[in-house]
Amino acid sequence: MGSQKPIIVVTRKLLSATETQMKRHFDTRFNVDDTPMSESDILNLTKDADVIVPTVTDRINAQLIRRLSESVKLIANFGVGVNHINLEKAADRKIVVTNTPGVLTDDTADMTVCLLLAAPRRLTEGERLIRSGEWSGWTPTSMIGHRFTGKKLGIIGMGRIGQAVARRVQSFGIEVHYHNRNQVNSTIESKLKAKYWGDLNEMLSRMDYVSVNCPYTPETHHLLDEARLRSMQPHAFLINTARGEIVDEKILAKLITKGVIAGAGLDVYEYEPSVENKLLKLENVVLAPHLGSATFEGRLAMGEKVIENIKSFFNGKDPPDMVVKVDPKY
Ligand code: DGY
Repeated sequence: MGSQKPIIVVTRKLLSATETQMKRHFDTRFNVDDTPMSESDILNLTKDADVIVPTVTDRINAQLIRRLSESVKLIANFGVGVNHINLEKAADRKIVVTNTPGVLTDDTADMTVCLLLAAPRRLTEGERLIRSGEWSGWTPTSMIGHRFTGKKLGIIGMGRIGQAVARRVQSFGIEVHYHNRNQVNSTIESKLKAKYWGDLNEMLSRMDYVSVNCPYTPETHHLLDEARLRSMQPHAFLINTARGEIVDEKILAKLITKGVIAGAGLDVYEYEPSVENKLLKLENVVLAPHLGSATFEGRLAMGEKVIENIKSFFNGKDPPDMVVKVDPKY
């Protein structure tokens, strides 16, 4: 490549401040009208490119990676979750993969708390009532919800985001419980006053609120299946700001409809952007359109991370956020 700038293909429109910064450092191909790119769009645009910058809305699957031009050496994901990229195939093709951890932790944890409050307090249902013009005023018995303060919250996935949720809910007097692949170290556990459950089912059956904050991997596909969802208490709410595929969405809708679970607060869906039709009709489900990292501050910081990862890679250094590392000797 010599002194030429790396050619980067960015699959979705980014904030203009990020695109301006990218133009300074790279030879850029942007998605001007933000139409999601098909596999052939990506393949055509990357024919002589060095880097793809995809997002969660792309499917960088085995077939696409197999057909990618030899020139592509780096997939610099704009986002922390990399479940839409076939990492094994990327490693096979000696393509480095990076992501953007850390900078969206607080925003995603904030959104989790928004849903933890909004669902049991019927916030969006109340808003719909006002907008419908049907609200007839305060009464002692109308729009009664459930208290959040002082309850038991079970966090599935005690990584960065799970821990940030645990810190936030301390001020609500919440009892924090968690399930994770591994128990976190005792210093963190005691700071968060968090109780570990090795057995997810055991935890689910005792919680008032359950929050999904783990990554989506083949092992967590439908981690919350019918049996696990049924083990939750009838007054319990499920919150998901991680990935839709971790919960069996159809079953969730069925169980809420039947009153097996009290309700849900969802920011992510199994087949985004489509949402299970039954969920759309349920008043006791708060639905957000994948807003976890959607703040100016967060998105700018994600862009900076992407730029840093690409710059480091082409300066011959290890990018700071490597998910797939490739030995340069091979
Ligand atoms: C993330 O970064 O994983 C967000 O969900 C957007 O992709």
